[in-house]
Amino acid sequence: MTDGNGTVALAFSGGLDTTVCVSLLKEEYGYDEVIGVTVDVGQPDYEFEEAEETAEALGVEQFVVDAKAEFADRCLKAVKANADYQGYPLGTALARPVIAKAILSVAEQEGCDGIAHGCTGKGNDQLRFEAIWRDSDLEVIAPVRELGLTREWENEYAREKGLPVEGGDGGRYSIDTNLWSRSIEGSELEDPSTVPADDIYKWTENPSGKDAELVAVTFEDGEPVAVDGETLGSVELIERLNERAGSHGIGRTDMMEDRMLGLKVRENYEHPAATVLLTAHEALEGLVLTQEARSFKTQVDQQWSQKAYEGLVDAPLTGALEAFIDDTNERVTGTVTVKLEGGHCRPVSRESDYAVYSESAASFNEEAVSGGITQQDATGVAKYHGFQSRLANDIREDVTERRAVTDGNGGADPSEE
Ligand code: ARG
Repeated sequence: MTDGNGTVALAFSGGLDTTVCVSLLKEEYGYDEVIGVTVDVGQPDYEFEEAEETAEALGVEQFVVDAKAEFADRCLKAVKANADYQGYPLGTALARPVIAKAILSVAEQEGCDGIAHGCTGKGNDQLRFEAIWRDSDLEVIAPVRELGLTREWENEYAREKGLPVEGGDGGRYSIDTNLWSRSIEGSELEDPSTVPADDIYKWTENPSGKDAELVAVTFEDGEPVAVDGETLGSVELIERLNERAGSHGIGRTDMMEDRMLGLKVRENYEHPAATVLLTAHEALEGLVLTQEARSFKTQVDQQWSQKAYEGLVDAPLTGALEAFIDDTNERVTGTVTVKLEGGHCRPVSRESDYAVYSESAASFNEEAVSGGITQQDATGVAKYHGFQSRLANDIREDVTERRAVTDGNGGADPSEE
């Protein structure tokens, strides 16, 4: 805690938690000044308007950092790792380190003494923020967690203090939106047996009888660069696919998620672009990677996604996994066409100069395989195939028979021998 002369930078959204934090950082933590930092990772416009209005009403100086392109680039890099944690394409998890770093640089540039967030002590975000911030000399403060606050208490406190909390927090759900995904938590959704109302979804239409549509995604070194032949920047590419795939109801996930602290939580997500890009990328890897590389990469991808979920972007392991991912993805260049239809998408065509594929070798119409290999050459392989299994099974049969014989003869009690 400071002697009362310090400035603290607060991760600021203008919602109830951060609004209450502004007041508590002064009253309970003795800071003289609070600056609010809002980082743009593709939230809807009204969230910025709300944050700006609240900051003004609170008399807090607000800094808005545009990290949209940086975040979009991160998302497209995550595609190379087939980013997936238990079925969740990691939107919030990928955004937090970007947000944390942006707030830290504002705090350092403004000569702050402390840095604070309004996360509770139950979720993942506190860990992701602090993994970045605790690498600095600033005092890290988490008022909601440290003071054990509940939303009810916060509402009461805000009313007493006359704090402006009329904004979006009045909503039923806890929502986190960025370019890559929209997460909906809380209220009746906390009961895993509740079927969500359709209106929790804002990015995805209810899959209806809409005509199917094809979309071609082009990749360079594993990263998506064009849609239907049109080269697009990362932000635009994601936005475009969110709209197109969202109109077919693609990219809804309703799941139980295991948080880092061990708590299970029921999550609902929308992520149309992520679903299309991850589907297309995996299809292209299927064409250009050897069987053994594909198989090993699933393990690497899973470890990478775990690190990304934990927000440990600077972990040495993350870097090492990325070296493998980048190396294998140097071949993941080509185009995949995906069919968007009735809430689902699936690859329907793929092409690449790096295809580990010989049409004549696999064809039913050609006698030879390639490089002088003929069908008859498979005979030896076929004879060997399953050799160990047959041997193991024969041995087990023999042993079982021998035991049966011994048991039959030696039924007598060994102590009588
Ligand atoms: N469970 C997700 C994660 O930890 C998303 C959390 C988003 N938060 C929210 N208030 N909806 O990455």
